[in-house]
Amino acid sequence: MPVTVVVGAQWGDEGKAKIIDLLSKEHTFVVRYQGGHNAGHTVVVEGERYALQLVPSGVLYDHVVPMIANGVVVDLPTLFDEIDTLERRGISCDRLQVSSRAHLVFPWHQAHDAIAEAMRGDDKIGTTLKGIGPSYADKARRVGVRVGEVVDVDRFADTVRARAIAENRLIEQAGGDPLDVDEIVTRFTDYGRRLQPYVSDTVTVLHEAVDRGAHVLLEGAQATFLDLDHGTYPFVTSSNPTAGGACAGTGLGPRLIDRVVGITKAYTTRVGAGPFPAELLDADGDALIDVGKEFGTVTGRRRRAGWLDCVMLRHAVRLNSLTELALTKLDVLDGFETVKVCTGYRLDGVPIDRYPDRSDILARVEPVYETLPGWQTDLSRIREPGELPVQAKDFLALIEAQVGVPVNVVGVGAERDDFLLWTA
Ligand code: GDP
Ligand code: IMO
Ligand code: MG
Repeated sequence: MPVTVVVGAQWGDEGKAKIIDLLSKEHTFVVRYQGGHNAGHTVVVEGERYALQLVPSGVLYDHVVPMIANGVVVDLPTLFDEIDTLERRGISCDRLQVSSRAHLVFPWHQAHDAIAEAMRGDDKIGTTLKGIGPSYADKARRVGVRVGEVVDVDRFADTVRARAIAENRLIEQAGGDPLDVDEIVTRFTDYGRRLQPYVSDTVTVLHEAVDRGAHVLLEGAQATFLDLDHGTYPFVTSSNPTAGGACAGTGLGPRLIDRVVGITKAYTTRVGAGPFPAELLDADGDALIDVGKEFGTVTGRRRRAGWLDCVMLRHAVRLNSLTELALTKLDVLDGFETVKVCTGYRLDGVPIDRYPDRSDILARVEPVYETLPGWQTDLSRIREPGELPVQAKDFLALIEAQVGVPVNVVGVGAERDDFLLWTA
């Protein structure tokens, strides 16, 4: 069966885009299935850095049809900005298809996102303020505007006006500044017209492709522990990045999927608030952030960092039916004398063997670490597993033993070719 899912196994920014770029060589469709422009997916090709928010990471290959499927929320200013930037750099987006069933993001969603965060005071989620949560909320309360509506642009303009007026009332009630309705209607009508050639019944297109034997790659944004149901609620995003979300978000049934690749860094990061058992607030944490350049692609925020957490990864295997892991940023650990791996949690001093179902419990667990000698060798030029220092091999073997699935790809640098295929 020809469908592969790529999903973040931690809290995002694992290097999904780099692995998707690698897997794109053998896939014809690369399909975003959830999230929106809260994502920041980076691919580096011969020093050229491409930071993608909505356009799928397979776009850099001519043979790939990039697709934005029904589960995504689409911010048109960002989408067109991204298309223009890519085309200026010689990357054609003509093949891009956007699902008629995907929902649109509007300026009132960003206004509501900001108001909701301000109202939370000290309990802020630390959202990207892109309007993602409010857009999915509108979808759930059945007042969202779908991409397919732009085919009748006059009706679309009327809908946008009606929605803007209604939302302005709510924004004013919440103490916010009203939005300029006419400006929004004019601008989004233009965007709507520009979107028309990209609009597609992606569900049917994907099924016909699968029937022909085409290989389809489903690109997750965010990650398992930011999942609305399975993440560290309420410190999560408003969609389902877990592999089940790839089915709902594309219309492809679960029996079509034969490969689910979980992406993990060699350590852990998180941006925004929420529990993080293995977080380091010491010099090692600072070193991970400095060496790993752990600053958000979208918001520029400093990420939080800690050692690799295998308790999380074991749970990610269950939640996503992971068949394998791709491990990125092993090179970031090059300078450490010793490296640690979290292999278990204790609660009130007692080991626990289940992943906590409540964020307040997760916030109280203490990590149990296994300490390994570091390799203190530059890994960036290594391309063969046999050339890895024994300490790095032991680190990978420990992860495989702890997590129970193989690590198939190991990243040793940001560039497209900075990886090796790992076999123990
Ligand atoms: P994504 O959201 O999961 O696609 O990840 P991001 O692009 O937000 O963040 C990952 C960052 O790590 C990017 O700057 C990548 O260029 C970089 N990166 C990816 N793989 C590696 C790797 O193996 N080593 C190093 N040093 N950097 C990497
Ligand atoms: P990629 O795809 C890391 C985080 C935000 C915040 C929470 C909710 O690049 O891995 P939202 O704006 O979605 O309502 O914010 O989720 N977040 C991400 N963190 N990587 C991402 O995407 C993220 N997208 C959202 O920081 O904590
Ligand atoms: Mg990212």
